[in-house]
Amino acid sequence: MNYNNFSKSILKWYSLNKRDLPWRYKDNSKKDPYKIWISEIMLQQTTVTAVIPYYIKFITKWPNIEKLSNANIDEVLDFWSGLGYYRRAKNLHLTSKIINKEYNNIFPKEEDQIKNLPGIGEYTSAAIRAIAFNKDDTVVDSNIERIVARVFQIKEPIIRAKKKIKERAKKLTPNKKNGDYAQALMDIGSMICLPKNPKCNACPILKFCEAKKNSNENIIPIKIKKKVKPVREGYVYWIISSDNKVLLKRRLDKGILPGMLEFPSYGWSTDGNEEIDKKVLSIKDFKRKRGKVSHQFSHFNLLLTVYEKKEFNVNDINGMWVDKKDLSNLGLPTLMKKVFNHINT
Ligand code: ADE
Repeated sequence: MNYNNFSKSILKWYSLNKRDLPWRYKDNSKKDPYKIWISEIMLQQTTVTAVIPYYIKFITKWPNIEKLSNANIDEVLDFWSGLGYYRRAKNLHLTSKIINKEYNNIFPKEEDQIKNLPGIGEYTSAAIRAIAFNKDDTVVDSNIERIVARVFQIKEPIIRAKKKIKERAKKLTPNKKNGDYAQALMDIGSMICLPKNPKCNACPILKFCEAKKNSNENIIPIKIKKKVKPVREGYVYWIISSDNKVLLKRRLDKGILPGMLEFPSYGWSTDGNEEIDKKVLSIKDFKRKRGKVSHQFSHFNLLLTVYEKKEFNVNDINGMWVDKKDLSNLGLPTLMKKVFNHINT
């Protein structure tokens, strides 16, 4: 295969077909590594469509590293509600503090510096260096893995061929315009080289694709059966006062939903949040709400039983009491929004 022609075809396609995304720059001289970093962190586990509004709001609220480093961590965590994988928010804030202190608010360029920052692994480091600094790092996300597996017709499940895929991807990586090249592959992966029924007729690298040549585009990558996720169960308490205030608590700064607000919930995580607060335990006469709230985490599915206690006297617990009407303005994680909807239906 002629590697040079491969990247040329991709770059030509990109110049005509790239998605117009808010973190992409029409003028490459205006690139801001800060914004590229924020977008890459948000895109780590969240879809482009879901990220766009969060990205725009985030950049408006914290337009540079210095502003972010001066933010309050609770504010950043609450901002993140709905995006999931909350550790990302914590790491963003931590990293902004490090860059503020150690790099005078200038995003570092070197691989070992970038990889040392909290929340940045191999992929994100390569993506930032390629997109923000045009370095020739090999960027491989799951979309790109699929493309490479098909182009080289790798007949092993991706999980077992990571090293081989990375090596092949490295050979394809151009030493010029690598940021555009990487983002072009991401676009091809999400618009053309789809997991099922790829749109090969629209593909700029069709002629390089071994899988297509052998009509194997729907077989490769080789699929493996997904493990069934375990189910965990827990309890959540909706405690509302006679003057319409709801009891909230902030989860510990570790484990699942670290530092996030919640209606007191217990029994389902093993990170220090699982034990029922004695104050809550001492309240009698809870009513169990019919049904359960279900939610998927990356490693398990959760079922929460909801207990409610109405017309509670606020003075009996000094905790975080919030007006019910203000709940929608707080950064509640999706799980707790589900609990709220369950209670109110
Ligand atoms: N996924 C991760 N990074 C991306 C980017 N820069 N553009 C589109 N999708 C992405």
